Amino acid sequence: MDIKKIDGKIGERKEDEKKIEEKKIEEKKIEEKEINEKIVEKRIGEMISLAIGQLEYSYAPYSCFRVGAALLSKSGKIYTGCNIENAAYTPSNCAERTAFFKAVSEGERGFLAICIVGGKAGKQPLSALTVAPEGADKGHKDGIGMEYTAPCGVCRQVMMEFCNPETFQIILAISKEEYKIFTLKELLPIGFGPENLA
Ligand code: THU
Repeated sequence: MDIKKIDGKIGERKEDEKKIEEKKIEEKKIEEKEINEKIVEKRIGEMISLAIGQLEYSYAPYSCFRVGAALLSKSGKIYTGCNIENAAYTPSNCAERTAFFKAVSEGERGFLAICIVGGKAGKQPLSALTVAPEGADKGHKDGIGMEYTAPCGVCRQVMMEFCNPETFQIILAISKEEYKIFTLKELLPIGFGPENLA
């Protein structure tokens, strides 16, 4: 066999090995997504209740839009958060980032899912607003009109830092019965993350 033919064969074999490797990576991704979905499915009710419970603590005197979040970490712990506004506006923090920063500051680095709930609260004073999770589960409680609340761009970017976009689940809920699930990749299709700087 001449050298050219041998080179050709080696090249083909390398191509095949590359394809097998790519297929394995793809299969692993699918498997990881399925495992993640199963874990999240079991915790979804708990996450929605915890997120709704956060509406009571939301500090939103300027927008009157209350948001609650519940973030499930890989360790199995759920971290909650609410939006916290500020008279100077820019220091305001979204519910999602409150939950993420609480979790990361406790040593968590991997996450499976986040549940987000929110709605307009009207102009009543903060002290007048109490939200019982059972009541709020019905979709409307004490002046909060629950509506699907999607994470803002800044929060999506924070998710990108700590989550696998292909598997991380974003649950937008109105009640325990009404919710929609997206992956981070669906909400941030061409994201910039730590991988880009690796
Ligand atoms: N907000 C959140 O906390 N999360 C979201 O997903 C959307 C917006 C907050 C920020 C601000 O306090 C209020 O909702 C209105 O924008």
